[in-house]
Order: sequence, then C-alpha cells, then structure tokens
Amino acid sequence: MTLRLATAGESHGPALVAILTGLPAGLVLERKAIDADLRRRQAGYGRSPRQQIETDEVDVLAGLRHGRTLGTPLALVVWNRDHKNWTWGMSPWPPEGEPEGKGTKPVTLPRPGHADLAGVLKYGLSDVRDALERASARHTAVHVAAGSVAKALLGTIGVSVKGSTVEEENLRARIDEARKERDTVGGVIEVRVHGVPPGLGSYAAKEDRLDARLAAAVMGIQAVKGVEIGEGFALADKFGSEAHDEIRTDRRRDTNHAGGIEAGVSNGEEIVVRAAMKPLPTLMKPLASVDLESGKAGEALVERSDVAAVEALAVVAEAAVAWELACAARDKFGGDAVGDFAAAWRAYLERIGWH
Ligand SMILES: Cc1cc2nc3c(=O)[nH]c(=O)nc-3n(C[C@H](O)[C@H](O)[C@H](O)COP(=O)(O)O)c2cc1C
Repeated sequence: MTLRLATAGESHGPALVAILTGLPAGLVLERKAIDADLRRRQAGYGRSPRQQIETDEVDVLAGLRHGRTLGTPLALVVWNRDHKNWTWGMSPWPPEGEPEGKGTKPVTLPRPGHADLAGVLKYGLSDVRDALERASARHTAVHVAAGSVAKALLGTIGVSVKGSTVEEENLRARIDEARKERDTVGGVIEVRVHGVPPGLGSYAAKEDRLDARLAAAVMGIQAVKGVEIGEGFALADKFGSEAHDEIRTDRRRDTNHAGGIEAGVSNGEEIVVRAAMKPLPTLMKPLASVDLESGKAGEALVERSDVAAVEALAVVAEAAVAWELACAARDKFGGDAVGDFAAAWRAYLERIGWH
C-alpha cells in the first residue's frame, strides 16, 4: 500500500489543499493536534506580521468520518485568511471591477535567492508574482497538516518524530541584529525519530534508500541547502574505528554516529536528520537586481517577509520526515485497516525478536 501526497495552493490564493491517498481505514485523527502543529509552524522568533493575520486551522473535505479515516483519499484544506486583501490581485478568474487591494501591479524586480528570475524565464511569465506565489514557503502549512496525519499513523506503531533548532550561539541576538540592519539570517535544525524498528527502507535500489528519501524530503523544503544523516559531513574526518557503531550481543549500539540508518535501512537506533537553512532572500534593504520590463538596473522586490524562519523550518522538517517514514512504514506493513497495519508491525517485531 503506497502512501501519496499531492498539494496545491498559492501564498495569497484562496486556500492550500492536500490530498493524501493510501492511508488505512480507522486511523483516529484529532483536529486539535493538527491545528497545534499548524500553530507551531507559525510561531518562532523573527517571523513576519503575516503570522498574526493567519491563524491556520485545518478543514477536512473528504476521507474522514467522525474523526476516523475511511481508507479513501483524505482531502485537507488550510484557508489563507490574508486572501481577503488579495481578492482582485489573486483572483483565480479574470478579476471584475477596478483593481483594489494587494497584488494589483506586476512585480518586475526579481529577488536574488528566490524563484523570481528562474521562474519567469522558465515559465514564460511577465509578472514575477506568478512565480513567487507558489515558490513561497506558505504552502508548507498544508505539508505540516499532512505531517500531523503521518505522525498519527506512526504513533500506532510506537514511532515519534520531533524537530527542533540546533542551539547556535546567539540565534536571537543574530536575528535582532539582522532586523536592525534590515537583513536576514538562516540556521540549523534537526529532527529526531524514536521507535523506528530496524528494516524501514531498502538497499535494493537507490530510490528505496531511507537516507536518500529523507534527504530528498528535507532538501525539498524552501531555503534548505544542506542535509546530513547522523554525523554526516563530520564522518569524513574520522577513522573507521571512530565512525562506526559497534554491535552489542543484543544487537543494539552504544553510539549512533550513523544516525539510525545503515545501507539505506533503519537499524533500530534513533534517526537523526539535520538541515542547514540559508538566510531568507527577501531583504528590507534590497540587493541589486534588474527591472525585467525596462532592462535597467534596480533594487529587488521588497515585500512583507520573515527575518528568520529557523524555528518554523524545524516544524516543517519534522512533518517532511514523518511523512517519509509513514510512507516507508506503509510500504513495509501495508494493511487496509489500521489494525492490520499494526498487527503486521507486531508480527515483524516478533520475528526479529526486537522489543
Ligand atoms: C518556513 C519558511 C518560511 C520562509 N519565509 C520566507 C520569507 O518570509 N521570506 C523569504 O524571502 N523567504 C522565505 N523562505 C524561503 C524561501 O521560500 C526560499 O528561499 C525560496 O522559495 C527560494 O528557494 P530556495 O531557497 O530553496 O532556493 C521561507 C522558507 C521556509 C521554510
């Protein structure tokens, strides 16, 4: 049984939507838990005032009855409350009446580091807004909602996933300084996963490797420029005798340099994924750019923006990792009813003698 996720939605469009297929029937979902994750994504030091306009909540359009999945496609919606200020500018149909609100004038000054220039060239656009609206990280909201569903599924087999920022010296002070200088900053986050049994993922093909799948999922998040599993880059400087996790008679390890994955397969230890986020590209003190209409030099677009979104990235990466692990668990344990899924997991643990 393959778990699949498709999303749609622009940053200032009417809504963000997700369709999840391949979930078992009978999985209990709690609206409060999903909404709590959505709030976590919106919080964090350095975020823009948009987070006060949006109070994200999930709505379910299909696939759930009385809080239990039906085993049919699950359709989630997060409404963009800010859309009310963009009804003309982001109207899906040709707008009627005089232009009003935001987004009425074409954007022609692409921001270095964003999708703006590549987007207009690739898709033959004349208004940068047609590129930036989807490239924006706003739609990570609905990925977080999907991640919440994945965490509920993983919870039935004793797996928990947690993202956090990696303590960097004076992150808050750096954010304050950047705000003062009308600049931006990035940072490092990590996701830790407890309770994964040995055997998720596979070395049989590179696309089945759990490390590859997790890296792709986390690198797929906006502004992530580096991903490592376990000690990652630091392993390159170590001797083999220092880098590998010796196996005890009970098949557990005293160290976890590998971050819980060997040969693309979980080994039963904690899974640790880290990601580096670049400084956000929208600067209040704009960088040099070109006006795509006149061809003259100019300054890049300035639009309401976060100074930093590292804490939000921790929540988004947690969702991405949870989703990938839920996919790998569905691949391995299958089942049309959630009880079948959990029973297959228990039978497997019994076979390998893992407790
Ligand atoms: C949670 C989150 C929030 C973000 N907020 C902003 C923002 O307010 N302003 C901005 O310029 N970029 C923001 N970004 C980053 C851009 O979306 C990203 O840099 C851009 O889409 C280009 O993609 P790339 O950085 O992956 O190359 C955010 C990213 C994440 C993950």
